[in-house]
Amino acid sequence: MKYDFESVLNRRNTFSYKWNVKENELPMWVADMDFQTAPEITQALSDRVKSGVFGYTIVPDEWYNAYIGCWKTRHGFEMKKEWLSFCTGVIPAITSCVKRLTNHGDNVVVQTPVYNIFYNCAENSGRHILENPLVFDGKSYSMDFEDLEKKLAHPYTTLMILCNPHNPVGTIWDAKTLSRIGALCYKYGVKVISDEIHCDITEPNVDYVPFASVDDVCREISVTCLSVTKAFNLASLQSSAVCVPNEVIRNVVFRGLNSDEVAEPSAFAIEAAIAALEKGGEWLDELREYISENKKYLRSYLADELSEVYVLPQNATYLVWADVSKITDSSKDLCDYLREKTGLIVTAGSTYHGDGNKFVRINVACPRSTLEDGLSRFVKGCNAIKKLNAEIKR
Ligand SMILES: Cc1ncc(COP(=O)(O)O)c(C=O)c1O
Repeated sequence: MKYDFESVLNRRNTFSYKWNVKENELPMWVADMDFQTAPEITQALSDRVKSGVFGYTIVPDEWYNAYIGCWKTRHGFEMKKEWLSFCTGVIPAITSCVKRLTNHGDNVVVQTPVYNIFYNCAENSGRHILENPLVFDGKSYSMDFEDLEKKLAHPYTTLMILCNPHNPVGTIWDAKTLSRIGALCYKYGVKVISDEIHCDITEPNVDYVPFASVDDVCREISVTCLSVTKAFNLASLQSSAVCVPNEVIRNVVFRGLNSDEVAEPSAFAIEAAIAALEKGGEWLDELREYISENKKYLRSYLADELSEVYVLPQNATYLVWADVSKITDSSKDLCDYLREKTGLIVTAGSTYHGDGNKFVRINVACPRSTLEDGLSRFVKGCNAIKKLNAEIKR
């Protein structure tokens, strides 16, 4: 590999949210990678630092062209410049859109288990979440369209937040599924926010399908949130792109982003996005290979050492979703125990609602040696719980 994904970074005492933990603890939870970003991005940022000038920044044509070019070549979707707006993050964008596209007391549909912050985006402004639980058949997840139709048909439902690819289950929704969602939402006058922040971390040679690219209906009812911050580990630079093809929806959304004051970029947010989209492709492809190998390693390690844990097949994200229901009836208790006894921090699936209580989410975007350490702690902790459970039963 040309790029380095093996070096272990010392992120303790660096104000890292993820690594602000005790000396013996190993965080493998929040979606933040333990790799340096692409050197091409670091170069662009350090050139900016060297200039010593950090005044107010515009969103230049280069930013629009970088997104448009990348989505055309990488994802086969042609966006127009006027469809795009800068925003200071995906969650600020969703929160602002919820406020503009729905009324107080409306229902917002989400598909659980799902990224828990979607709840905050809706509930903090007095909207209700309606859950359309994904269906787990013991092997993988699919959508329950009958239930989805019921939730969309509810007279108070005005918005659906789609997660594509899906965090935490790691599925890329196919065009047929997306088109069915689009048709149902259209039928009931429901708009769709498609959160596509995880779209660039897919299995090598597998691409995701942008919701708005599927057909005319999906394009006309959607607001798509894109970002380079997940794939290039730039979360603290606070940057995203909001794509709204329909002019009427766009006017409402862009006015909202502006009056909520989330459409003003920092110099670093712009420089990093342009460098990532224009020069980061090779690094990104190597990262995808590395993550894919980490997932294979985890799968084979757990098959050998802890076969009760079922690891879901996934084609996207660096977040493994593992069924621990044969070991515990509370993912939160298991995670608390793992942290206390082994120092390993993984996320309890119950955080994501739905059937998440049966699962844990493990972030494998780290050097292999860190993953080995994490897996050995995981197996040790799970075996200790199994032993305790067996003793209680006796
Ligand atoms: C599905 C999803 N959306 C949004 C975010 C956060 O986006 P941002 O940091 O741009 O607000 C995350 C972070 O993990 C995520 O998983």
